[in-house]
Formats: sequence, structure tokens, C-alpha cells
Amino acid sequence: MAHPKEPNRLQLNDQGRLRHFLTLDGLDRATLTEILDTADSFIEVGARSIKKVPLLRGKTVVNLFFEASTRTRSTFELAAKRLSADVLNLNISTSATSKGESLSDTLQNLEAMASDMFVVRHSQSGAPHFIAESVTPNVSIINAGDGRHAHPTQAMLDMLTIRQHKGAFEGLTVAIVGDILHSRVARSQIRALNTLGVSEVRVIAPNTLLPVDIESLGVSVFSTMKEGLDAVDVIIMLRLQKERMEGALLPSEHEFYELYGLTTEKLEYAKPDSIVMHPGPINRGVEIESAVADGPQSVILNQVTNGIAVRMAVMSMAMSGQTAAISAATPE
Ligand code: NCD
Repeated sequence: MAHPKEPNRLQLNDQGRLRHFLTLDGLDRATLTEILDTADSFIEVGARSIKKVPLLRGKTVVNLFFEASTRTRSTFELAAKRLSADVLNLNISTSATSKGESLSDTLQNLEAMASDMFVVRHSQSGAPHFIAESVTPNVSIINAGDGRHAHPTQAMLDMLTIRQHKGAFEGLTVAIVGDILHSRVARSQIRALNTLGVSEVRVIAPNTLLPVDIESLGVSVFSTMKEGLDAVDVIIMLRLQKERMEGALLPSEHEFYELYGLTTEKLEYAKPDSIVMHPGPINRGVEIESAVADGPQSVILNQVTNGIAVRMAVMSMAMSGQTAAISAATPE
């Protein structure tokens, strides 16, 4: 099984182009910028009255969600449809695996239906890598969030949103606030922000919600909002991911809100033109005040819209990298 730490042997073809999209680890600035530029070109498609381009015409995309999702699943579905693919949505918790079929058997059946791409969400870190390793070479795997490990398309739609509002990454200070420990989104965001060259990535959280190796990810750590939000350009709030918490990591939600919830008062510490982001789902009154979530600095709904364009970009790039790899491997 491929280890998530050596992803590029799997996710890049011989020309260094994406054929799967599993993680941002090891991807360079040029590749991330290409994803953002490609996504920019798809934003225009979303504004047309006929929102379709033929890039994935005749291809079959299977959304394989082993864990619940609303935004991510539906924006992947819309992205695939706007690229003219045929789309199958499989909610695995209500399908064959719950009847005792193994993951490999489910995958073999889907491959036998001549699927070209699997979009995978799984509660286990590394599951999309495992699937990329196990399926036939002509299926592309896109990671839609695995355990606490990575959520690369979410991070890239966040980067697109930052670039739209701030123009460039150089010179920016970005703060990520809250439950970093359980967040695959934060891990992918930290990687993307550092690769794209922001000045500083900060994390603001109580010690109990930070991974032990946090500093090695290239961030500065703050334990108060007053210090951590001082003069930042971008604030990214995270949900308390209670479904992944073992034991009591927090005194109470009320106390968390008092200390780390983003309120109108705490937003004052940041730059006046700072933007407020959240991957969703938001919990009003737990990590963010309604007046902030719905306020003029919030770009939370722009993030959702950008999710479609970024997912179109990643799917079309992976499909073309896959096709190139297959034709290179096919004897004359
Ligand atoms: C995130 C996820 O599933 O990792 N949400 C998302 O994809 N929009 C974050 C979360 O669940 O809090």
C-alpha cells in the first residue's frame, strides 16, 4: 500500500502531470498555480446560461462517499456534470459494503462498469491512496477528504477565494483558528499557503486541539485571539469536529466560544479589510457569531461557488494526465 508520505509516485505521470489528486504534499507552486488559473477559466462557464463544456464527455465519474457530505459531494457532482461527464453517486453507508461486500469487491464492480474517475471521501487517512494503488491504471482517483489527513480540493478552493480577494499570496498573514487537531482541511491549507508563498501562517487554538508536531508544518502558534489575529489579512475558522474527538478535549462549547469564537469584537484585532472564511458546515455561536458569518467581511459562500470551478479544474487536469499516461503505456 502506498504511504500518504510518498504520494507523487502515484499521483503524477511520467511527464510530472497529475493523474490522480490525492494530496498537496510534494506538489510545487507551478502546479498549484495551474490549478488556480484553470479554475479561473471555469468560473466564466458557471456564469453562462448553458453551463457546460465537453472536456469529460463520454467519461463516467463515480462519487464514492463513505462519509457524509453536503457541499463537497454536490459541488463535485455539479463540476462533473458541467464537464459533460456521466455521474453516479454512491452513498456507501447505505450500499453494498453494509451487506458485507469488501471495498476491493465494490471497486472491482465499479471498474467493470468502465468508470473513469472515482471521487473518494473516507474516514480513514490514506484510503484514496490505497484505492489509487489497487484500481486498474486507467481510473483516476480524486481525494474528497480522508480522515484527518488531507482535503486538497477544499484547500485549493480556499486558495482561489484568497487570490480573488487579495490578488496575490506574497505579503499575506493568514490565521487558521480552532480544531486544528482533527482537521484535514487545516493540514492541506497550511501546505498550500506555504507552497504559494504567504508571509506567515498562524494557528490559533487551545493546546488540546493542536497536533504535537504542529510547528514542523511551518506555522506560528498562538493561544489567544488577541495576539493571533493581530493585523492578519485572512481568518479561516474551523468547526469543532466532535465526531473525531476521543475524550474531553474542551471544557465546554460556551467556554470555547468565549475564548476562540470569532465575534464582531475579536474581528477588530484583524486588518479592517481582512476576509473571514470557513469550509462549512458552520456552527453559529460555537466557533463563529452569526453577525460575522453573514457580515461584509465573510466570503464563506464565495468559497462554495469556487468549489465547483476548482473541482472542474482538478478533474479535467487529472483526466488529461491519465489519458496521457495510458497512451504512453499502450504498445503501438
Ligand atoms: C470539512 C470536511 O469535511 O473536512 N468540510 C467540507 O468538506 N466542506 C470540514 C468539516 O467537516 O468541518
